[in-house]
Amino acid sequence: MQDWPGLIEAYRTWLPVSNSTPVVTLREGATPLIPVPSIAERIGKGVKVYVKYDGLNPTGSFKDRGMTMAISKAKEAGCEAVICASTGNTSAAAAAYARRAGMRAFVLIPDGYVAQGKLAQALVYGAEVLAIRGNFDTALDIVREVSDQYPVTLVNSVNPYRLQGQKTAAFELIDALGDAPDWLCIPMGNAGNITAYWMGFQEYHQAGRSRTLPRMMGFQASGSAPLVNETTVTDPETIATAIRIGNPVNREKAIAARAASNGAFLDVTDEEILQAYKLLGGEEGIFCEPASAASVAGLLKRKDEVPTGATVVCVLTGNGLKDPDCAINNNDAAFHTDLNPDLGTVAKVMGF
Ligand code: F0G
Repeated sequence: MQDWPGLIEAYRTWLPVSNSTPVVTLREGATPLIPVPSIAERIGKGVKVYVKYDGLNPTGSFKDRGMTMAISKAKEAGCEAVICASTGNTSAAAAAYARRAGMRAFVLIPDGYVAQGKLAQALVYGAEVLAIRGNFDTALDIVREVSDQYPVTLVNSVNPYRLQGQKTAAFELIDALGDAPDWLCIPMGNAGNITAYWMGFQEYHQAGRSRTLPRMMGFQASGSAPLVNETTVTDPETIATAIRIGNPVNREKAIAARAASNGAFLDVTDEEILQAYKLLGGEEGIFCEPASAASVAGLLKRKDEVPTGATVVCVLTGNGLKDPDCAINNNDAAFHTDLNPDLGTVAKVMGF
């Protein structure tokens, strides 16, 4: 098998790059589409369910798809520094790609609300980390002003190259399935990813690569659901810190994608998210972060509406290792501690 070149090379003709664009890549993309029979069984009706495990990208989230494009284009334009606001994953990806390209990476994060793994990544990848006493929405307002006034390029999803890179996930789905799925279930925070997927599905459809278009099913955490409730949330709260966002910048585009695809938005509670998270881990061997599990939680919540024989894809946006605290505190595992180091004790605990 040929080595995967990264998504810019793989989908070059679909992307705004030229021969003079310096490609900054960690060979992101080509993530697996994995059947999840235990979820399909809970729905019945001959439905097929897959997860697009984007947590297997180089920095552990789908953000790498957008960042290979945003950083390559920033490098092409001669930028020397980038900045983003982040609930964690964007900062990890921005730092990795920017440093690889020899740029400075400034990241603004909500102090105390970024999962440990993500913070560890930003630090190790050499970002300059600014933790503010405020949430993501406030951080985004600040970085937008900074990038307006100083020579730093903004790499949040208001940067159009981010969405260009992220749309390749839709291409990969169609390349793997031979057509678009009937439903695409996806968590929403700033709503960049749902916008990017819809762009990708439309482009492939227009080019005759798929016969159909999916219904775009977007899910938010109940404590942080501005799109579902058509409002702005000033104090978003959820265990899924990645999508703890009260004022999504891509609001209008996400609403347009829902309308054009006959899709729907729904919220899921933290308990429902954790149930799906444990189900994926314990029955399918797939460890995703809580925000990602919102896609599966949402599908299960709407299972009565799934048509007979439908093909459904849930996007698992980030790797479970990103948030070890959540994992340690939310599992149904048998975890026996402080045992005597002898055969008798171990066999007894095992039930022999
Ligand atoms: N899932 C994960 C794991 C995320 O990190 C994010 C967003 C989303 C879903 C939602 O994607 O914003 O395009 O709707 N994380 C951003 C960050 C906000 O800073 O890492 P979206």
